[in-house]
Amino acid sequence: MDDSIRIVVCMGSSCFVRGNEKNLELIEKFLEKHVLAARVLVSGSLCECCCGQGPNIRINDKVFHAVSREKLPGILERELLGVKGKGGS
Ligand code: FES
Repeated sequence: MDDSIRIVVCMGSSCFVRGNEKNLELIEKFLEKHVLAARVLVSGSLCECCCGQGPNIRINDKVFHAVSREKLPGILERELLGVKGKGGS
């Protein structure tokens, strides 16, 4: 069974200036810290078609909006490690 996880970080201009450049760095550090790089494929996109709600990050089929540096660790813990109860949607 393929249990790989796909993260798509929108690097379109709107999401980029709202913080996805830094979010990408945080994701890479998180994967390194939790030794997840082999299971998680990270790629970029040019637009997720919801620019006004950015910065946007997709994890598998879920799109997370307004992903701040404060919210991101909770999202990654919940989606990648299964930790419940932290962070936003
Ligand atoms: S630039 Fe990210 S959703 Fe359009």
